[in-house]
Amino acid sequence: MTDNVSTHEAEEDRRNADILIWVNGALTHRAEATVSVYDSGFMLGDGVWEGLRLYHGRWTFLEEHIDRLFEAAKAIDLDIGMTPAQVIAALEETRTANDMQTDAHARLMVTRGVKRLPFQHPRLSTKGPTMVIIMEHSKPKLPRPIRLATVPHLRGLPMTQDPKLNSHSKLNCILACIAAEKAGADEALMLDVHGFVNTTNACNFFIVRKGAVWTSTGDYCMNGITRQKVIDLCHANDIPCYERNFSLVDTYGADEAFLTGTFGAQTPVSEIDGRTIGSGEMGPVTTRLRGLYKDLVGA
Ligand SMILES: Cc1ncc(COP(=O)(O)O)c(C=O)c1O
Repeated sequence: MTDNVSTHEAEEDRRNADILIWVNGALTHRAEATVSVYDSGFMLGDGVWEGLRLYHGRWTFLEEHIDRLFEAAKAIDLDIGMTPAQVIAALEETRTANDMQTDAHARLMVTRGVKRLPFQHPRLSTKGPTMVIIMEHSKPKLPRPIRLATVPHLRGLPMTQDPKLNSHSKLNCILACIAAEKAGADEALMLDVHGFVNTTNACNFFIVRKGAVWTSTGDYCMNGITRQKVIDLCHANDIPCYERNFSLVDTYGADEAFLTGTFGAQTPVSEIDGRTIGSGEMGPVTTRLRGLYKDLVGA
């Protein structure tokens, strides 16, 4: 298929050609910003990251993102070597240096750092962590509602690389995305180990049936901040919302489906495994939730 789209497509912005990247405290033009080939992140995917968005001078849900970053770092026994306040200061320094006021996206990455030898053992990372902040001018661009395909790659059990971890290594998700693309879809719909519909390879997943919003129990997916905000918005606005197990039968028969993530907020889904979902266009509940969310973040 030639017209596959990514759910993370952004409008072209020439200013991004000259952005400054924060690498371990130094701001460097993107053309010169590098990390070592011995870096644990490059070599092994050994690190954690967050994606944040800036609207009108404010990092959306900053506290939640910083909490999740530190929680993930603790889980992989990685000492970030900075306080949450210092991490926020680094974000702000990068934002100011790039003169960004709104519609910016930050990818904040922390790895176990440069290794002494090119092998796996974490003790070989002797130089302290590597932190990088890539911040781009970013307006999501979605040419049409997206198409999903279910794939054989599962969301695993928590004891095999907990799917809640925003780890650098995303190979399971990437393999899922490749399989979906080869099936003619834009993104992969992933099942959990019991066969219930769980999430996509890069976003959380919701369906709407008879005016009620359904999402997975949350057991096998990223604890998405946007996911939680959508659930909270439903509760606050008398939209029935259930975190529950559901199957592909429930999904194909849904009136609407959408994805959530910091980048795209709520992304409508038109088709899953060749079945049109509802009218194939963005439905009324998705539209309403997008409006409520936009108001919440002040976009
Ligand atoms: C696999 C996966 N699911 C969902 C999300 C969405 O999470 P959030 O809403 O916090 O951006 C992400 C984003 O990092 C992700 O990597």
